[in-house]
Amino acid sequence: MTTTTWTDLGPISDFPPQQHTCVTSPGSDGIPDTALVVLNVDGAFYVLKNQCPHAGAPLGDGERHGMTLTCLYHGYTYHIKTGKNIDFPDDERPVKTYPVRVEAGIVQVFLENEEA
Ligand code: FES
Repeated sequence: MTTTTWTDLGPISDFPPQQHTCVTSPGSDGIPDTALVVLNVDGAFYVLKNQCPHAGAPLGDGERHGMTLTCLYHGYTYHIKTGKNIDFPDDERPVKTYPVRVEAGIVQVFLENEEA
């Protein structure tokens, strides 16, 4: 069974423009705690899993340049919107991205969990 939910991450003011912020979404309804990176790019919000698909390092430690986020551990760079690996798009896995919206000034992320 698939469980899905829009989950509050916090007010817009918690995610200043041109910065990225690490948050952990608390689990509920079968969806586990999820470590995320929230990025505000010129007022548009993006949410990535806070785990580099290369070797598992926290992407939130990385550096953002425009629409990319570079992992500081081995230097792989990911597109913020698509999650695609910029350096090795055909050989390396993308970082997971999540739908995001703003409702009544609150940034929300769409999470799902596949249960057996
Ligand atoms: S763990 Fe991120 S590039 Fe290796």
